[in-house]
Amino acid sequence: MGKTIIEIKDLVKTYKVGGETVTALHRISLHVEEGEFIAIIGPSGSGKSTLMNMIGCLDKPESGEYILEGNDVGKLNDYELATIRNQKIGFIFQNFNLLSKLTAIENVELPLLYQGAAPQEQKQLAQECLEKVGLGDRAQHLPTQLSGGQQQRVAIARSLVCNPPILLADEPTGALDSKTSKEILDVMKKLNGEGHTIILITHDLGVARQAKRIVQIKDGRLYENGGDPVETSAFF
Ligand SMILES: Nc1ncnc2c1ncn2[C@@H]1O[C@H](COP(=O)(O)OP(=O)(O)OP(=O)(O)O)[C@@H](O)[C@H]1O
Ligand SMILES: [Mg+2]
Repeated sequence: MGKTIIEIKDLVKTYKVGGETVTALHRISLHVEEGEFIAIIGPSGSGKSTLMNMIGCLDKPESGEYILEGNDVGKLNDYELATIRNQKIGFIFQNFNLLSKLTAIENVELPLLYQGAAPQEQKQLAQECLEKVGLGDRAQHLPTQLSGGQQQRVAIARSLVCNPPILLADEPTGALDSKTSKEILDVMKKLNGEGHTIILITHDLGVARQAKRIVQIKDGRLYENGGDPVETSAFF
C-alpha cells in the first residue's frame, strides 16, 4: 500500500433550489494513494463537477469527511481552503481558461503572483513548466497564436507552476480532436510518471481507459469494479 493522499468518506452534497432539494452526491467514499492516475467517468448530471469542486477544495462537504494530505477540509475556513487549494491542486479545464491578452509565459506565471516570489524567479519557473509540456519555444505567443492542443499544454504548465501534488482535470480533451487528445493524455501520463497524482473527469470511455484506475459516477454514487467500468452501455 502506498501513501494516502485523499480520503473521502460518506460525503454528501445537496443543492436547494426553490423548495426542492437535489442530492448531487450520496455518501460518496473514495480512497486515493499518491501517484495514482484515476479517471472518474459519468454521464451528464451524474455529479462529476460537484465532486470535482469538492476534491478541488472549491466547496466543503455538508456531511461526511474529506481528508487531503492529513488536512480535514471540512474544518477549514475560507482562507485556509484557498491556501490548501493553491498548494495541493493544479486545475485543468475543458476550455483551457487562459487569459487572451497575456502571453503563454504570463499565463503560466499567474498563480505565482499570489506567492510573492521575485519576478525573475517567476519567469524561470514558468519557462521550466512550459518546457516540461514541450512548449519552451512558444513562451511569447498569445493564446490566439497557438493551436488548441498547445493552449491546453499552456494550461497544464500553469497547473504545474506551484508544483502541486495533485492535478485535477475536468474534460481536458473535451474541446480537442482525437490526435491532439492523445498528445494531451500523453503529457498527463508523463506527469503522472514524474510523481503527480492525477484525477481526470470525463464522460468519454476512451479517455478514461488511459487512466490506471476507473471509477464510475452515476446519480451521485460511485461504483468501481476492478478497473473496468460497470454498465458501460449506459454511456452510449
Ligand atoms: N448550483 C447548483 N444548484 C442546484 N443544483 C445543481 C447545481 N449544480 C449542480 N446541480 C445539480 O446536481 C446534479 C449534479 O450536477 P453536476 O454539475 O455535478 O453534474 P455533471 O456530472 O458535472 O454533469 P455534466 O457532465 O453535464 O457537466 C445535477 O442534478 C444538477 O442539476
Ligand atoms: Mg460538469
